[in-house]
Amino acid sequence: MTSDQMGNSGMIRKGLELRYDVKTLDGQQLLPAGTRLDRDVMEELACRATTRWPQVNLLDYGTVRADLRAFLMSNSVYRNIFPEAVVGKGVEAFMTTVILPLPVLQCLSYFKDNDYYTYRHILMVFALYALLGYDMRAEMGATPLEVAAGPMHDLGKVCVPLSILQMPGPLRRAQRDKIEHHTEAGYVFLTYYLRDSESFLARVARDHHERRDGSGYPLGMRLEERHVEVVAVCDVYDALINPRPYRNGVYDNRAAIEIITDMAEKGTFSWDIVRRLVAVNRKGRPASDECVVSLDKRGTPPAENCYGIIQEDESGSDR
Ligand SMILES: [Fe+2]
Ligand SMILES: [Fe+2]
Repeated sequence: MTSDQMGNSGMIRKGLELRYDVKTLDGQQLLPAGTRLDRDVMEELACRATTRWPQVNLLDYGTVRADLRAFLMSNSVYRNIFPEAVVGKGVEAFMTTVILPLPVLQCLSYFKDNDYYTYRHILMVFALYALLGYDMRAEMGATPLEVAAGPMHDLGKVCVPLSILQMPGPLRRAQRDKIEHHTEAGYVFLTYYLRDSESFLARVARDHHERRDGSGYPLGMRLEERHVEVVAVCDVYDALINPRPYRNGVYDNRAAIEIITDMAEKGTFSWDIVRRLVAVNRKGRPASDECVVSLDKRGTPPAENCYGIIQEDESGSDR
């Protein structure tokens, strides 16, 4: 078995191959479509950059700190999860430790200017992941590096055409492929900008749509890395309770929690991580192992939702 067939959990990984070119925001091609992302390729990529980029504190970049607070305060679910005492103390201090290369943060400006959904989503997953990571830090050993995984998970979406990212209706298969490609693209970007062929942040970008039961993408591997799974749970939760281009309305908090507890029931997510998310929604914030989760269905999902629907064209093909 070669090293590139081994995942971090030691399981066999099929080869990951780029479906599309990966280019930086200023048009520099990092890797062409068809490149197999094996160890040699990633090591070459990590050594390629000659520029020494400034390292910038994420919360101090542009309007990030003010936008993050405004997003938290404008959503009643987040106002409950992040009371002022939490935002102002440990969690914000934890988030303040995140320092990243400038070109990575410039991608946030790109989203702010061009795709506000993604900009807001990235900052909210940052806050949620910092909260869960902070609460679970004794068990998980979360560090500033891990906390940075929240805002970086969807960085590869700079490679997805805005017309597809913002499409309101069902997608064709090729369009869906381009969205899924953000996982490989983020892996390439972060390996290059962080100059590290084994970067944790790059792995999160690659694996945050993988699932414990192997039902995710891009490889359909069984996700075993705890930090990545926490990002994945935060990612799904934020997408459910906030507006998305592909559906009318949002899941109310109850419906969103029900979707995620269903995923835990099916083995898609770990119960203890899902219980932690439920616990931060409860008054008094019980310990997650004391948090009893009802499986009753009382939430209200949105009436119209095109997520996951693949549209066939006139010829009957979905490409
Ligand atoms: Fe994603
Ligand atoms: Fe996401």
